[in-house]
Amino acid sequence: MEAEGIVSAYASDAEHDAEVSVRPKRLADFIAQHRVRDQLDLLLRGAMGRGTPPDHILLSGPPGLGKTTLANIVAAELGVGIRVTSGPAIERSGDLAAIVTSLVEGDVLFIDEIHRIAKPAEELLYSAMEDFRVDVVVGKGPGATAIPLDVEPFTLVGATTRSGLLTGPMRDRFGFVAHLDFYSADDLRTLLHRSARILGVPITEEGAVEIAGRSRGTPRIANRLLRRVRDFAEVRADGVVNLETARAALQVYDVDGLGLDRLDRAVLTALVESFRGGPVGLSTLAVAVGEQPDTVEEVCEPFLVRAGLLARTPRGRVATEAAWRHLGISPPNGTFGSGVNPTPDLFSAEP
Ligand SMILES: Nc1ncnc2c1ncn2[C@@H]1O[C@H](COP(=O)(O)OP(=O)(O)OP(=O)(O)O)[C@@H](O)[C@H]1O
Ligand SMILES: [Mg+2]
Repeated sequence: MEAEGIVSAYASDAEHDAEVSVRPKRLADFIAQHRVRDQLDLLLRGAMGRGTPPDHILLSGPPGLGKTTLANIVAAELGVGIRVTSGPAIERSGDLAAIVTSLVEGDVLFIDEIHRIAKPAEELLYSAMEDFRVDVVVGKGPGATAIPLDVEPFTLVGATTRSGLLTGPMRDRFGFVAHLDFYSADDLRTLLHRSARILGVPITEEGAVEIAGRSRGTPRIANRLLRRVRDFAEVRADGVVNLETARAALQVYDVDGLGLDRLDRAVLTALVESFRGGPVGLSTLAVAVGEQPDTVEEVCEPFLVRAGLLARTPRGRVATEAAWRHLGISPPNGTFGSGVNPTPDLFSAEP
């Protein structure tokens, strides 16, 4: 999936460069996700105390929540080197054999998008993870021979946005699985203050709160919105990120109070105005906003559903009461009875 759109959770290549400067380097600088942090801290300290590499670590969760950041932190905390590759880059088992046999003792091997690794490479990875050896097949057909090679003890850190696509045997070989959750607005506020400090951008508390509330629970989006508001503040105001510059800048970029962009709102508006709130089929809804059904389903709907604005029912898509309210349109009498809809629980906050 590509990184179009100001509130996309995905990053473009250029954005990855911009992210490096604000990426926390140590566990203590990693905001929120307290449970995962605590567990990792124990795992890493225990291993360091014993002088052995820790168990293999699987990091799962939606894009932009800190998987790559944590992989780098693991290596930094252990004081070891890190080799970085990704599932799609490993097409043949030989590619993987070359990587694992070149690891230095204790190294971290980070495989991003590990669910996309090719099958033969995956099988080779099993033996590298479990027995620290791999069989490299030389030659073809009846004359082929397998040469066993030793692998130095290492820690695999795998990251995946689709843990459901991992095979059972793969999942079983990780001694520690961490699932990253969306961040609360309060955590993102803290994160924004930290990023602003690093970037040298003056920011007020109200400015941070305003941006945090529109960041869809995602650090990557929060940092991106901060950069856009900074541009606005520097060009059109006195350079300070405050309530006024945040609101004005995000209006320019079409990001509304809940973090919806133009297409998100178009989908909701069509649902409410053209289909009286639904239910309506996905393809009909997509035609109404001039988009492909895939785009509506994969780009817009996940957040609209999470924000409690849209529901997927067997009969089609339905706007919730919160959606009508958000658009400032009153639903036809009786649509939602007299019961009060629960406030949408936008982001699952940490306990
Ligand atoms: N807990 C955190 N504290 C501070 N900054 C964070 C935190 N989590 C993520 N970030 C910031 O958010 C940005 C995105 O994080 P990261 O690249 O680690 O996400 P990811 O989960 O690897 O995403 P993807 O699935 O797209 O690879 C980084 O610039 C990082 O600085
Ligand atoms: Mg990543």
